[in-house]
This record gives sequence, structure tokens and C-alpha cells, in this order.
Amino acid sequence: MKPTTIGERGQNISQKRKQFCIAAILIIAFARFAIFNKTEFDLNFVDDSSFEKKTENQLTAVGRDSTTTERSRRWNETEIVSYMAAHPQRNYMAHLFGRGGFRKGIEIGVQDGRFSDIILSANHFLKEKWSMVLVDPNPTKYLNRRMRKENGKWAQAGFLEYCDITFHKTNSTDPALLNEYTDGHFDFVYLDGSHTHDAVTSEMPLWWKKVAPGGILAGHDYCNYGEKGLSCNGCDSIPLCQAYTPSSVKFKRESANTKSGRAANQMGVVMAVQEWLINESGDPTLTVHHTLEDFTSESLEKDGFKFADVIRRDRNPSWFIYKP
Ligand SMILES: C[S@@+](CC[C@H](N)C(=O)[O-])C[C@H]1O[C@@H](n2cnc3c(N)ncnc32)[C@H](O)[C@@H]1O
Repeated sequence: MKPTTIGERGQNISQKRKQFCIAAILIIAFARFAIFNKTEFDLNFVDDSSFEKKTENQLTAVGRDSTTTERSRRWNETEIVSYMAAHPQRNYMAHLFGRGGFRKGIEIGVQDGRFSDIILSANHFLKEKWSMVLVDPNPTKYLNRRMRKENGKWAQAGFLEYCDITFHKTNSTDPALLNEYTDGHFDFVYLDGSHTHDAVTSEMPLWWKKVAPGGILAGHDYCNYGEKGLSCNGCDSIPLCQAYTPSSVKFKRESANTKSGRAANQMGVVMAVQEWLINESGDPTLTVHHTLEDFTSESLEKDGFKFADVIRRDRNPSWFIYKP
């Protein structure tokens, strides 16, 4: 072996030090990246390995008391209302497809795709064509990761095998979007875009038209601080906005909005829905119903849902109106 001089040895040592420093920097950078991504991940993505298990659970939970033919039969108003009253959480709206015969849905305001994820995974067992339209002017990277046709989370999980997903990067009142779908096209329309009174007021008549008879128009954020409702069917029952959930506090988001930590008052949404019912619907028999979001991890688990998928930064209820 060729002997090394002191100078060469010094060079070797400093080279090794350099290599060590580079390796240390890379390890630290990787660890920081992994930790940061995990934080975001917790809120936005579910563990992949849960998909298959969830599907099996749902098959059991949903399939236990219904045959394939029964699953395709469309539920009537009483069945929809009593199912939702027995399960007053919006994730159970997903079962209106698999159990209640809905086949065409649209979610307006999708953000990361967390609710879409619930709808898709809960109906993974449906072995016939159905469709979801997703609308958002500002799709997030999490939505893109889920939605990508090739290698996206939904594609990988097999959710796209029977469900056609169409995404529109636009606003809820865009005439081009509205022209894409004939009146009565959708069984399920879910409004979760802008939550101002004006926005929901303009969406209500446009999207009611697009609901098929026997379907529902629904939306998120139906709660207030105890103000009285108007005089219409179901309008005196308005759930209270609850405290923000620990995930919100942890990530220092909306909790900063109110001193009490209570989720922001959604009276604008409540009024827009109730005013439409009274002034514009033209049908005095229509009734507004709402969820409560009083789930626990145990209650969800028995129906194949995962708490981490369902929990949001708030526990704001959703509203819905059945179209006769
Ligand atoms: C509360 S987030 C939706 C959350 C999603 N529905 C869920 O539960 O997982 C609201 C989303 O609505 C979108 N948005 C805001 N204004 C909108 C509009 N006029 N039309 C459609 N989407 C809108 C925002 O870009 C945002 O991503």
C-alpha cells in the first residue's frame, strides 16, 4: 500500500469532514421535509393502507342489510330523511349513493378533496357507473395529488374504476359550468364554496334547478350563535356553531378568529337557505334538514369511516333540502 504523506492525510481528513457535513445536512433536510410533510399529511391525507380495510368494512356495513338490487333502488324522501336523522353527519350523505340509489353528484368547493375522498371511498363497492363533478377555482396541491388520473391517490385506490370524476376549475355561478349540465342532472348537489350570504343566495336558485326530482340540494356550514330562524319548514331548528376542533387549534387556524374559540357564525348561509325556501322555492312543502356532526371515533368506526378522514377544523353541520 502506498504510504500517505501528512499533507495527503490532512486532505483526506478534511475531505471526510466535508462528506460527513454534507451527509448530516442531507439527513437534517430530509428529516425536516418528512416532519413538515407529515404535519400537512395528517390533515389532508389518510394512510393509504386504510383504503382497502375501509372498503371491506364498508362492504360489510353497507352490504349487511341490503342486496345489490336494493342498493340501486332510489330512496324516497322518508327514507332519506330518516336515514340522515339516524346518522346526522354529512359523511353519511355518501351512503345516499351506495344505499340510496344516487348516481350523479357534484361538490362545489372542494379544497383538498377531503369530503370527495369520503364520498368516493364509501362507494368503492359500487360496481356500476356513477359520477362526481368537482368544482373549485383554486384546487390545492392535495386535491391534485388525489385527483391525478395517473398515479393519483384515487386512481391508485381504484376509486376511478366505476366513478367518473370531472373537475372544473371555476366558480359556482360560472355560466359555462351551468351550461354543461341540463336541469335535473344531479341527484346530489353539495354547496361548500364561498359561505357569504350573497354567494349562497346566488347559488341556491341556479343549483336547485340542476337537482333531479328525488335528489337533494345540500351545503356546508349551517349553524349560528342562537339567533332565531325564519318561518319555514324546519327553519326553527338551527344548530349552534361549536368550538373549533383540536386540529384547528393545533394548526392555529380559525381558532384565532373568535375569542371563545367557537367556530365563526354562519348566519349568512342559514339566512340564504331559509330566505330562498320562503321567497324563491315556490313550494311551501319544502323542508330544510340539517346534520349535527356529533360523531365519535367509535361511532364512525362501526360504519367503516375513519375519524381522521372525517374530522375537520370545525364541527359545522350541513343542511339539505329534498326535491320532490
Ligand atoms: C371549505 S372549502 C371546501 C371543503 C371541502 N368541501 C371539504 O369538505 O373537504 C371551500 C372551497 O371553496 C372554494 N371556493 C370559494 N369560492 C368558490 C366559488 N364561488 N365557487 C366554487 N368554489 C369556491 C375555495 O377555493 C375552497 O377551496
